Amino acid sequence: MGSIYLDYNASTPIDPAVVAAMRPLLDETFGNPSSGHWASTPAKAALEKARSHVAALLSCEPDEIVFTSGGSEANNFAIKGTFFTLRDKGEHIITTAVEHPAVLAPCRFLERLGATVTYLPVDATGRIDPEAVRGAITPRTGLISVMHANNEVGTIQPIEEISAIAREHRIRFHTDAAQSVGKIPTKVDTLGVDLLTIAGHKLYAPKGIGALYVRRGVTLEPLIHGAGHEQGRRAGTESALLSVGLGTACALAQDLAPMNRVRALRDRFWKALQMRFGNRVALNGHADGLPNTLNVSFVGMVGAEILARLDGVAASTGSACHAGRVELSPVLAAMGVPEEIGMGAVRFSLGRQTTDAEIDAVIEQLTSTLHPSVVTHA
Ligand SMILES: Cc1ncc(COP(=O)(O)O)c(C=O)c1O
Repeated sequence: MGSIYLDYNASTPIDPAVVAAMRPLLDETFGNPSSGHWASTPAKAALEKARSHVAALLSCEPDEIVFTSGGSEANNFAIKGTFFTLRDKGEHIITTAVEHPAVLAPCRFLERLGATVTYLPVDATGRIDPEAVRGAITPRTGLISVMHANNEVGTIQPIEEISAIAREHRIRFHTDAAQSVGKIPTKVDTLGVDLLTIAGHKLYAPKGIGALYVRRGVTLEPLIHGAGHEQGRRAGTESALLSVGLGTACALAQDLAPMNRVRALRDRFWKALQMRFGNRVALNGHADGLPNTLNVSFVGMVGAEILARLDGVAASTGSACHAGRVELSPVLAAMGVPEEIGMGAVRFSLGRQTTDAEIDAVIEQLTSTLHPSVVTHA
């Protein structure tokens, strides 16, 4: 078998229907959406149709969607935009220890500007306790930011419970839904959020496009000042091309049924690994996490070495190489995963195109390459 792609949490291929919808914008629809003449009309219409597709997926109004360059910008906009708007009333931010760097780094940046940030701990499955959020609230809390689903281990946070607490205290609530949109339901009123991040390339749209849902009445200082694009919230001529990519991907993601097959495939994969490796494998994350994510540790081994031995398999490790030293990922460290288990973590993330035959081939490769006789670190 040739190349096998099991890294959908890193990025997805662009869906053929998304490519088809984008094509006219590459060819003839070149006008500036803001120009107000014949060349801009179709570009503006395509942009606004795309916005309504994104809004429909989240069950919100189109004017609550701001297109961004991706998940990182949406997170930065939510966090810095709130801080710059509300800092006189509240400079305290509550977040978690397992957020993506696109949340943690803006928080650390704002600490240099006077913000105080609480990084809530997680349990062994990667979940935070909603009561810990309540306990962390102070009269100066201006924002709570808790990711919907974790990119490394797939753990889903109890967003509804946290948002109820945020609402009780009238505190703005942001969730980074870059990994959950298109995999599980993400309706903003059910979740109870004021701000929600989307990243196109995690849901079969191109890279370089994302969106931030901004509930009506929530004001955010823009990150990019300039002309009045996106209702004055993000300056810069909009890319109708990329927005149509995201909008079409969101329209496709309305149907979550393909995720049932993906979940069954992931569950079969995990069962097979347990059968073959017994207590030499351990699951990282919550058993009821994202349907496509399997983060599994090969105990006593190093994840990068396992991946290096797999021929043509694209997946990620749970550890990162810093200054020549392999270090446990901060997410696994926050979950309290011991080093000898966490270092052997591999994240397999499946998607719409993953086949039964591909999973069988990976199981066979793992079994033959990690047979006890060739395991060197056990
Ligand atoms: C949870 C999460 N948030 C944010 C991002 C950043 O998104 P982007 O790559 O579109 O900037 C990612 C991508 O890895 C992610 O997994």
